[in-house]
Amino acid sequence: MNKVYSVAIDGPSGAGKSSVARAAAQKLGFLYVDTGAIYRTVGLAAFRRGIGSRDRDAVVSMLPELDIQLRYGDDGLQHMFLDGDDVSAEIRLPEISIYASDVSAYPEVRAYLMEMQRSLARTNSVIMDGRDIGTVVLPDAGLKIFLTASPEARAQRRLLELEKKGQSVTFEEVLRDIQYRDKNDSERDAAPLKQAEDAVLVDTTEIDFDASCAVVEKLIRERFGL
Ligand code: DC
Repeated sequence: MNKVYSVAIDGPSGAGKSSVARAAAQKLGFLYVDTGAIYRTVGLAAFRRGIGSRDRDAVVSMLPELDIQLRYGDDGLQHMFLDGDDVSAEIRLPEISIYASDVSAYPEVRAYLMEMQRSLARTNSVIMDGRDIGTVVLPDAGLKIFLTASPEARAQRRLLELEKKGQSVTFEEVLRDIQYRDKNDSERDAAPLKQAEDAVLVDTTEIDFDASCAVVEKLIRERFGL
């Protein structure tokens, strides 16, 4: 079998992980895996069933009934399917972000999604982004990057993204969501967001998207001699 390489990119919401990881993966021919989308799909499943995201017992009880699939389209992009429907757009709604953050705190949810994530990295060279990829999911990843930016810079970028999609939200609302998720994601007991000891820190507060991509691509090429 050909050698496969794994790159773990972790960091807080809105740091640009997914856009940077997707661009680098496309350039280098790696598979891009957005693990946040998987947690979002579980969040959406709870939402659709009318289960409160803070109702741990109900969230855990629904897990065995779920049909969650991750598939790559002809466009090479990752699509998420829930009970047969392509929910890739719906999982981006702001209320689902909160649901995803809440359900991702339950160890049962994390355990349920572990194998889906690891199996992708066994057979493909991947750039996988999330919160615990370098610390828990792929502790032996050949390169770990912790990508971050200030909360205000992240809120500003997320606001532009949402506006482009025609959603009307204010900067304050977006910042509040980001702060809520930062706190949730880093203070939970199960696999909290934290920089792995052997991760390279990339702070994108002062650099734009192209510069962030260049930094990440260079780190990958150097590490694997590509
Ligand atoms: O990356 P994102 O914003 O799409 O992730 C949605 C939520 O899922 C986020 O609040 C934290 C959670 N998450 C996680 O706990 N572990 C991951 N590996 C990825 C996301």
